Amino acid sequence: MGSKSGRHFLQIPGPTNVPDRILRSLSRPTIDHRGPAFARIAREAIEGLQRVFATTGAVVIYPSSGTGAWEAALVNTLSPGDKVLMFETGHFATLWRSMAVRLGLQVDFVPGDWRHGVDPGVVLAKLTEDRDRAIKAVAIVHNETSTGVTSRVADVRRQIDKAGHPALFMVDTISSLGSIDFRHDEWGVDVTVGCSQKGLMLPPGLGLNAISGKALTAAKSARLPRAYWDWESMIEDNKAGFFPYTPATNLLYGLCEALSMLLEEGLANVFARHRRHAEATRRAVQAWGLELVPLNPEEYSSSLTAVKVPDGHDADALRKAVLDRFDMSLGTGLGKLKGKIFRIGHLGDFNDLMLAGTLSGVELGLAVSGIPFKRGGVTAALDYLAAEVSTQTAPSMQTVL
Ligand SMILES: Cc1ncc(COP(=O)(O)O)c(C=O)c1O
Repeated sequence: MGSKSGRHFLQIPGPTNVPDRILRSLSRPTIDHRGPAFARIAREAIEGLQRVFATTGAVVIYPSSGTGAWEAALVNTLSPGDKVLMFETGHFATLWRSMAVRLGLQVDFVPGDWRHGVDPGVVLAKLTEDRDRAIKAVAIVHNETSTGVTSRVADVRRQIDKAGHPALFMVDTISSLGSIDFRHDEWGVDVTVGCSQKGLMLPPGLGLNAISGKALTAAKSARLPRAYWDWESMIEDNKAGFFPYTPATNLLYGLCEALSMLLEEGLANVFARHRRHAEATRRAVQAWGLELVPLNPEEYSSSLTAVKVPDGHDADALRKAVLDRFDMSLGTGLGKLKGKIFRIGHLGDFNDLMLAGTLSGVELGLAVSGIPFKRGGVTAALDYLAAEVSTQTAPSMQTVL
């Protein structure tokens, strides 16, 4: 295939577009990871991450994907045969459960329809009936990247407290961290799992854990085997700004730059920007006459929108048309949603015009791929965006154009 002019649109829900500021920082020469200049960078990265996780506790950074950070959360805190309560919210919750089973944990996996988040009432019921306190951890996915459903973490915490249950609370924030409000300390989360390639706007390669004091205490008696993922040696070496093995030096430069960008914009503004783009996207979907995957508006994701194609149509054929004709990558349907849905990523380094281009690409793709839809999605989104920046009632974009 010949080369294409213009920029590729990477609108999958992670990895996300890496901004130029971060790309430039990544290109700096690699330095001695046991020298003083590195120690300053490591400390800056850890302190900045504490602000993004909203914690004053320990944060560790692995050279890994998010899956590694999942494993770290489990192996540092649990012992063989321990019971874990998990919820089938979608593909990623299912993968985390498989990992837990393979590690020798017993998982009570609450079935789900992949269109709803974790039901806090079920958390209360399960923990209340667990009178002998066999459940050692409740582990949930904050933002199910496969469905565009965001679970209500604070509500789940309230139900754990209401049951008076001592289980650890673990939350995967892989596609919410730095995009959707999350508060590790305030919401009483014991281990938060994150990674670099989504809201943090970095390439893949960093796995993250934020860790409560309670989780650190649990780690002292936890018996699942661990070596590479061991928190203790990480936290010990991190105190002086170092790592027990070679860190991803250049990704840490990028991480410091990403954290500066997020904190310069202000986390509250970053979350508001994501909410606004998500709402504009849903207006487009509604105008197209297509159906969203999430069924509960309280659980709509701000970082991605998952859209069903009508029965008898193939979402991957639409994605192929969009890629081949308009040079834009959209997220595929995962697991049992393969071919049935496509996902629009609107997280990370993103603005109104990028969203306008993205939605135009989807609308063009729908038009060329023979999927029945109504025109006007892009206009509906632009109307919403215009009204949201103006203090006065904005005229319809149709009139403006
Ligand atoms: C919610 C969620 N959890 C876990 C993962 C796995 O992360 P990784 O692919 O970086 O190992 C992903 C990946 O997209 C994800 O979206």
